[in-house]
Amino acid sequence: MTDLVQNAAGDLAADSSRKDHPMWSSRLAFILAASGSAVGLGNIWKFPYITGENGGGAFVLVYLLCIALIGIPIMIAEVAIGRRGGRSPINSMRQLAQRDGLSKRWVWIGGMGMLASFLILSFYSVIGGWALSYVGNAAQGAFVGADSDTIGAMFGGLLADPIALLLWHSVFMLLVIIIVARGLSSGMEKAINILMPLLFVLLLVMVGYAMNTGNFAQGFSFLFQPDFSKLTTEGVLTALGHAFFTLSLGMGVMMAYGSYLPKKVSIVKTAVTVSVVDTAVALLAGLAIFPLVFANGLEAGAGPGLIFQTLPLAFGQMSGGVLFGSLFFALLVVAAVTSAISLLEPVVEWLEEQKGISRFGGTLIGGISIWALGILTILSLNQWSDVYPLGMFERFEGKTFFDLFDYVTANLMMPLGGLAIALFVGWFMSKQAGENELDLGNGAGYRLFMFVLRYITPAAVLVVFIYNLA
Ligand code: PFF
Repeated sequence: MTDLVQNAAGDLAADSSRKDHPMWSSRLAFILAASGSAVGLGNIWKFPYITGENGGGAFVLVYLLCIALIGIPIMIAEVAIGRRGGRSPINSMRQLAQRDGLSKRWVWIGGMGMLASFLILSFYSVIGGWALSYVGNAAQGAFVGADSDTIGAMFGGLLADPIALLLWHSVFMLLVIIIVARGLSSGMEKAINILMPLLFVLLLVMVGYAMNTGNFAQGFSFLFQPDFSKLTTEGVLTALGHAFFTLSLGMGVMMAYGSYLPKKVSIVKTAVTVSVVDTAVALLAGLAIFPLVFANGLEAGAGPGLIFQTLPLAFGQMSGGVLFGSLFFALLVVAAVTSAISLLEPVVEWLEEQKGISRFGGTLIGGISIWALGILTILSLNQWSDVYPLGMFERFEGKTFFDLFDYVTANLMMPLGGLAIALFVGWFMSKQAGENELDLGNGAGYRLFMFVLRYITPAAVLVVFIYNLA
């Protein structure tokens, strides 16, 4: 009975704090928004380049395992917390801990997540800026007939130019700020509904091109034939971290999105769908890129510039390349923007919940601070490329600000946040809450899920951590 009353009170409070945030109109709307957050630069820019750096197949296999055993269960847990709490991550955690009589310290999951969003968006926007500038390059025909040296020099030129980087970073951040300040309008949602599938189709076209003209067999076996001698413990940590990064997990973003999810939607089915879509996009990107890498004698481990140095070669040679190239980079920008919005949203949602800050004000405060922090990433690419702020620690040797932000968020903060989320839902949150949110009934399905979440997921994260520290 008291539980009932508390729940009712909780729901009421939740409703009053989110009355200007409408619920997602349907399961599909949530799937699109959550996939919009998940699918982004992580799939098309980061996945191929870290796969290249870590030797291919074995890394991909570990990454897929991490998605299945760690990513999907944590996504389910995270969305469930969000839906039950009904507010920004910090306040949802506070609410849930309170309701189940748990320690207030659980709130730090939300706090650490917000800090991670902040750091990630600061460099994410700089890379989004690269994509923006490549829309222009493609449209002006800069890739037409260019060889790999010319394309490489074009990319090198961009990185060496802090003013250009700052300009594109600013444009990207401005786009994100405008969209978040206005709230996702239905027009925006409709546009995304068309643009995301279009990106998927265009990736298929690129894979088709790679099949016809690239070294497809070699690219394919690089991705899917595991050679464990190439896998390092650092590579395993990178794969784990990437599973979190690519699914937007462990930092409250999926919690924030879950807070708008209607009760009747199945969290389990939805989380699986989003994860499958996300993984498919990453693998397609790999299949489009590696055949070109090998056919053109490029370096698979070339690093963050990989897609900016390979795809333009293809666009420069294929018929209709100017159109396809501009469209591809434009869609990459769209994918990046939909992820970036989800990084800014929790910060803004939280600022808004502080009395006296409007949505517009919150967006400006958050957006401008993140923009300013982005300058450190820009300088890491040129003027400060040999400044290693934590270089005195062996783990962080040779890492610029940009490398550090990336490393600390993906490889430390997100897995730690995810671990805490798994432990919270697996061990601490009341059983009734879990059964309520998860619509797995209380039979075998529920028990299997809980087993994975309680034992397998935390153990996997811990093993990777401990191996890496040892
Ligand atoms: N998942 C996004 C991508 O793969 O590009 C990046 C991202 C978005 C990470 C939101 C974390 C996040 F909370």
